[in-house]
Amino acid sequence: MFDFTSNFWPWFITIISSAGIIAMWWLVRWMDKKPTDGSQLDGKPLTHVWDDDLVELNNPLPSWWKNMFYATIIFSVGYLALYPGLGTWQGLLGWTQENQYEREMSKAEETFGPIYASYLKKDVIALAADTDALKTGRRLFNNYCALCHGSDAAGSHGFPNLTDSDWLYGGKPENIKASINNGRNGAMPAWGQILDNDGVFNVSEYILSLGGRDTNPTAVAAGKQKYSQLCVACHSADAKGNQALGAPDLTDKVWLYGASQRAVMASISEGRTGNMPSHKDFLDEGKIHVLTAYIYSLSAGGKE
Ligand code: HEC
Ligand code: HEC
Repeated sequence: MFDFTSNFWPWFITIISSAGIIAMWWLVRWMDKKPTDGSQLDGKPLTHVWDDDLVELNNPLPSWWKNMFYATIIFSVGYLALYPGLGTWQGLLGWTQENQYEREMSKAEETFGPIYASYLKKDVIALAADTDALKTGRRLFNNYCALCHGSDAAGSHGFPNLTDSDWLYGGKPENIKASINNGRNGAMPAWGQILDNDGVFNVSEYILSLGGRDTNPTAVAAGKQKYSQLCVACHSADAKGNQALGAPDLTDKVWLYGASQRAVMASISEGRTGNMPSHKDFLDEGKIHVLTAYIYSLSAGGKE
């Protein structure tokens, strides 16, 4: 399998690589030549002198050194005969990246298949107490999830912390597994146009008052009224959120997009969207099961 876009490149590569090897061969031979004027390579000083007394002696290359050059040249010729490397030449061994990948994957399947099968026999809660499974889970997490959730799984702006007991979509094994399998798309609409600046400020005051922050009572009262019209459908009447929609609890101290009033106002006026990709197409059932147990173990205690 080659992806050359034209016939020029295979020839370009073949000619440059072969010419390079031939030139190396010629260079080593040439360095090895005896002088033609009858003089001998016998350790006599050459004519140039540097720094008053530094002379170059007329010595042949040591043969171990020279043979090393020949060995590298022979190696490269052998390599290029056996493996693809010269333009479209497939190599005598028939090696390809694809067949090496297939071989390694089937070997891995042979080794790890039974291990994952035994993990699948345990439920998530039991597996979350199995230290070997958790080690595997951690490795999988670092490969597939740490990019977004951080290697400590503590998340960052817009990426939820998976180690606490505060869940957008629920922390039961089946909720976590559904998050990984199907992905999640939390969508908070933008209210800036409907509420205008004062309205956004008032609602933010109301929300912050729920978390016990210092707020202005008049603004809170006005904000509460707007909240009960516009926000209850998703964040619920007590503002504790709704896990079916991924609408966060607005009364706690955990903020996905920042705790400052500015950040809260930005969430309200511009809206927010969180996008967790679905993993079921490229992680098999066993891996997702182990990952679920790993995530479950991180929030130990807070299984809301
Ligand atoms: C491309 C970034 C990205 C990757 C990769 C990713 N996630 Fe997520 N994940 C998110 C975002 C963003 C959310 C929040 C979605 C929302 O706001 O609705 C989320 C939500 C979650 C949730 C729900 C959290 C809650 O509070 O209910 C879990 C569990 C989760 N991710 C686990 C994982 C695991 C395990 C992996 C690796 C297999 C992973 N994520 C990979 C971005 C990512
Ligand atoms: C259609 C459902 C829906 C409505 C209506 C809605 N929200 Fe949201 N809200 C969400 C979702 C879902 C999220 C989480 C977004 C994400 O995961 O990226 C969110 C996030 C937020 C956040 C950010 C929370 C954090 O942790 O950083 C604030 C603040 C907020 N909403 C306030 C409000 C207010 C105030 C209203 C009414 C004016 C409102 N929401 C109306 C669904 C809704």
